[in-house]
Amino acid sequence: MQKKWWKESVVYQIYPRSFKDSSGDGIGDLQGIIAKLDYLAELGIDVVWLSPIYRSPNHDNGYDISDYYEIMSEFGTMRDWEELRDGLHKRGIRLVMDLVVNHTSDEHPWFIESRSAVNSPYRDYYIWRPGKNGREPNNWLSEFGGSAWEYDQTTDEYYLHIFSKKQPDLNWEDISLRHEIHRMMQWWLDRGVDGFRMDVINMISKVPELPDAPPTDNSRYQWGGAFFINGPRIQYFLREMHKKVLSKYDVMTVGETRGVDPEKANLYVDAGRHELDMVFQFELLELDYGPGGKWDVIPWKLTDFKQIITQWQRELQERGWNTLFLNNHDQPRAVSRFGSDTVYRTQSAKLLATLLFTLQGTPFIFQGEEIGMTNVRFPDISHYRDVETLNMYRQALNQGMQPGEILQSIYLRGRDNARTPMQWDDSPQAGFTSGIPWIDVNRNYTSINVKQAQQDPGSILNYYRNLIRLRQSHETLVYGSFRLLVPEDERVFAYLRSLEREKVLVILNFSEQEARFDLPEKLDLAAAELLISNYPVDTPGKARSVHLRPYESRVYRLKS
Ligand code: GLC
Repeated sequence: MQKKWWKESVVYQIYPRSFKDSSGDGIGDLQGIIAKLDYLAELGIDVVWLSPIYRSPNHDNGYDISDYYEIMSEFGTMRDWEELRDGLHKRGIRLVMDLVVNHTSDEHPWFIESRSAVNSPYRDYYIWRPGKNGREPNNWLSEFGGSAWEYDQTTDEYYLHIFSKKQPDLNWEDISLRHEIHRMMQWWLDRGVDGFRMDVINMISKVPELPDAPPTDNSRYQWGGAFFINGPRIQYFLREMHKKVLSKYDVMTVGETRGVDPEKANLYVDAGRHELDMVFQFELLELDYGPGGKWDVIPWKLTDFKQIITQWQRELQERGWNTLFLNNHDQPRAVSRFGSDTVYRTQSAKLLATLLFTLQGTPFIFQGEEIGMTNVRFPDISHYRDVETLNMYRQALNQGMQPGEILQSIYLRGRDNARTPMQWDDSPQAGFTSGIPWIDVNRNYTSINVKQAQQDPGSILNYYRNLIRLRQSHETLVYGSFRLLVPEDERVFAYLRSLEREKVLVILNFSEQEARFDLPEKLDLAAAELLISNYPVDTPGKARSVHLRPYESRVYRLKS
């Protein structure tokens, strides 16, 4: 296996709007991030992935870009961005930018031009079609609710928007559009960017005929996904992008790809194919989706959780490389979803972190995860900000659901769970802003915050620091192969990582109950070295089984 810096790195995702406000307008900004650079350096991360900071009307918090070459005024200026880049680089931290090129904002000059006339030179930068029998050109649904088409009076045609109607899809079949995107990527790379996280990148190629989705279309992607996820020309577009742009720089790329299994993922990340370095897969995070999709929450089983991880570990082991993440700006908080955010919050947050840093792949931390931030429960819809949540709420009301009932699923699934302000200390607004925050802080900030965590040697934050250092100093944790133990156990997740003669054993009790782990025959803990644990642990001696407390996690280096 080839060694690469990005395989050995730990990435930290910043959602700038919610990280730190320096100006008092209630919105996080670049100077706010700059003020926290030492915090990031002390945590020990290697790479920052910055969610979009480009000019945007902010309909989807920056994932609707109106100028790829400018900074959103609420966030600061290009000077601030340069200062941020330099501040990171000075501390040995690389900077990865979000690349949002499946769509732009409808306020992007290309779209304004495109919509003005059928013969506009920019018409084909987007996907326009006449209506069919006085209706939309096909039955595809938008990810954010309703039809994926919007009628435009000016030319009596519809444009495609897989996300909100303020996010028209770009037409990647158009070669001038592709040149523009390549040029823009190069422009940022020449300014010292160290890579891209590519937003919904496996949706850029649509089946050209744009056919109707059959009623049996995969229910998780009801909106016609079969015709635009992993579309017919995606591989071509990515290889072209690699050849023309990425191959000229030593950078990392990670594609956001819903609807991929390990086999499809290998088509993107197999090192011999020259497309992407890594992808974010969603099989794991869709584990608790019911037949109705995202908002239909069902209980999950540890055996399924282990099975998905094991399959990805195995199948990407030789050819590609995994990403490891349990949440991001679109997902509920990991500790609330896969751990416990009440009695065992500290233990379970540490257990999840142990998992994240001891699998093969590149770990991604989402801001606030390192202090165990939890989901939020606002009393009513007026406190929510996310376009997806608000659209869903409206639709559900129209279908006759009660507000209380809808809120229950928002508590479990809403993207605003991840977007409440970073909790820095116990002062008003959690030290995030001196003004009124754009979205309310989680009320638990008085006890869950960075300042408290820094002062407590047993905090989740300090545990993250230790894990990051541990991973950086043990090649086996990075490159070692993976072998699952006790696959049928519904409480214990245990596995071995091996590299050459070194073996590391990871034991995790994923339950609120006590559990027992029986050592496989050939393993012996008598002379093992405990690398990290989230409870005080005695030397195991000659015992053949390990008694685990609720959410206990241990990592041993075995002596061979
Ligand atoms: C991605 C982003 C999400 C955004 C969507 C549309 O899924 O992560 O935040 O809303 O793409 O750009």
